[in-house]
Amino acid sequence: MPTSLSRSSIARGALVLTCAGLLAGCGDDDNRKPYVGGDAKIGKQLVTQYQCGACHKIPDVPGAGGEAGPDLEKFGRLSYIAGGIPNVPPRLVAWLLDPPALKPGTAMPNVGLTEQEARHMTAFLYTLR
Ligand code: HEC
Repeated sequence: MPTSLSRSSIARGALVLTCAGLLAGCGDDDNRKPYVGGDAKIGKQLVTQYQCGACHKIPDVPGAGGEAGPDLEKFGRLSYIAGGIPNVPPRLVAWLLDPPALKPGTAMPNVGLTEQEARHMTAFLYTLR
């Protein structure tokens, strides 16, 4: 977490929220060090399995040509998730777990991922550059 962010009380509040959402991971040494703790290959399989491609265009994912959500082709280069959430691993994990919690009213649904699934997907999404 960049130190500049922690100066803002808004970011601090969001951090607390993220940590609450990742409570299991917060106490787990293996997952805390490499924060994301995900495997991009498994993440790609999960993205296929959960049919994220129904709403998103995703390179190398069979059938992923949806247009309801943004094209994820260069997602790893973006500074923000959904236009306003800093694109850093803990925030992306939190986004995938529960988009409306981070951005009320968003059209992206909570698809019921486990935290570990969200971490695998996060690792995969950052390979898209
Ligand atoms: C019902 C359609 C739908 C499904 C299913 C869906 N998304 Fe989304 N997704 C969206 C929409 C719409 C947005 C834009 C949200 C916003 O800006 O409020 C979005 C945004 C995103 C973003 C941020 C993209 C950006 O450019 O800011 C990522 C990453 C993402 N989705 C990944 C996923 C993954 C991974 C899955 C599968 C677990 C998934 N989505 C499933 C509709 C969907």
